Amino acid sequence: MRFTCAACAATLALVVSTWTVIAQTGRTTAEGVYTDAQAARGNTTYDAQCAACHGVALAGALAPPLTGAAFLRVWDRRPLADLVDKIQKTMPATSPGTLSRMQATDLTAYLLKASAFEAGSAELRADESLSGIMLAAPAGAAAGAPSPPGNLAQVMRGILFPSSNLIFNVQNQDPGQQKMGWQPGDTSFGWADWGAGIYSGWELVDYAAIAIAESAPLLLTPGRRCENGRPVPVDRPDWIQFTRETADAGRAAYRASQSRDRDAVIEVTNAIADACLRCHEVYRDKPGGTTVDPSNKAARCIP
Ligand code: HEC
Ligand code: HEC
Repeated sequence: MRFTCAACAATLALVVSTWTVIAQTGRTTAEGVYTDAQAARGNTTYDAQCAACHGVALAGALAPPLTGAAFLRVWDRRPLADLVDKIQKTMPATSPGTLSRMQATDLTAYLLKASAFEAGSAELRADESLSGIMLAAPAGAAAGAPSPPGNLAQVMRGILFPSSNLIFNVQNQDPGQQKMGWQPGDTSFGWADWGAGIYSGWELVDYAAIAIAESAPLLLTPGRRCENGRPVPVDRPDWIQFTRETADAGRAAYRASQSRDRDAVIEVTNAIADACLRCHEVYRDKPGGTTVDPSNKAARCIP
């Protein structure tokens, strides 16, 4: 009797196709793609411009680690051009866009060295060839659950922060008034209310409440890290409880919004603010900041 395994075949095809891409483009970071002198230049820039946030040993401090499994999981099987772009276009986080392409490439050489990729005899070039070189972590080095695309702070700023602000605004704005947001052709452009003209005020309050209720479980996604590189403490009972309270507050806000009663929504804003605050008191707002790290981000995400 013969068995066929469709899923096994699919997995195999995927592995083969990944390696075909690398084979076609030719090179991987296993082949000595930078020089020691170049990594040393990168090291100098790193110490001056990156270490304060990412840690002297690249192990993470108030920003994520730039070496080890957590780092390799993000960048494995991706062209080096992605990593150089990330550095040149968004780092250092306080003054992005100030590094030259060459500096960002040297920094990448330093990061490769720190992750134990061997140096070679030719420098990594700051040109299109970066797209043809794949970061290929040694077997097992990038092991672990795949990381979700955002760190915890990004999820907070991208979803919970704008959604709860929208609901808090019901205190000053009546969603029943047809106050239209930005529309194509308007000369005054606001990033925050772009597209808001499409839905009525009350609908926007509905959707913000839904966003809070639906996104609260994202705070429990395994594998997510906080901005400082620590794992989100998803197994801690108090963390789970705070997450549940946030989801409940989102549901309550939705019910209130559906009643189209402004006072009911205003009342529920307290429950939302409390749910956020209760967790922040324990896991975010840490005393003992320093000049480099005024809000003590390095201590976040531990009770
Ligand atoms: C003011 C603090 C700060 C400084 C200085 C800084 N970074 Fe970052 N960096 C961050 C934060 C916060 C993140 C996480 C958010 C993000 O990915 O944009 C990050 C993310 C990164 C990432 C992506 C990490 C990952 O696993 O996804 C890389 C690579 C990086 N930084 C490189 C650098 C380099 C190289 C420098 C120096 C030129 C630098 N950073 C300076 C704060 C900083
Ligand atoms: C279960 C715990 C928890 C809950 C619930 C929670 N937060 Fe957070 N929040 C955090 C932690 C921890 C951080 C720091 C994240 C990091 O550094 O990666 C954070 C960071 C933030 C930030 C970024 C602050 C900065 O440094 O820029 C904002 C904004 C934020 N939260 C808003 C909210 C809002 C609004 C709510 C409620 C709707 C909420 N949070 C609910 C734990 C929580």
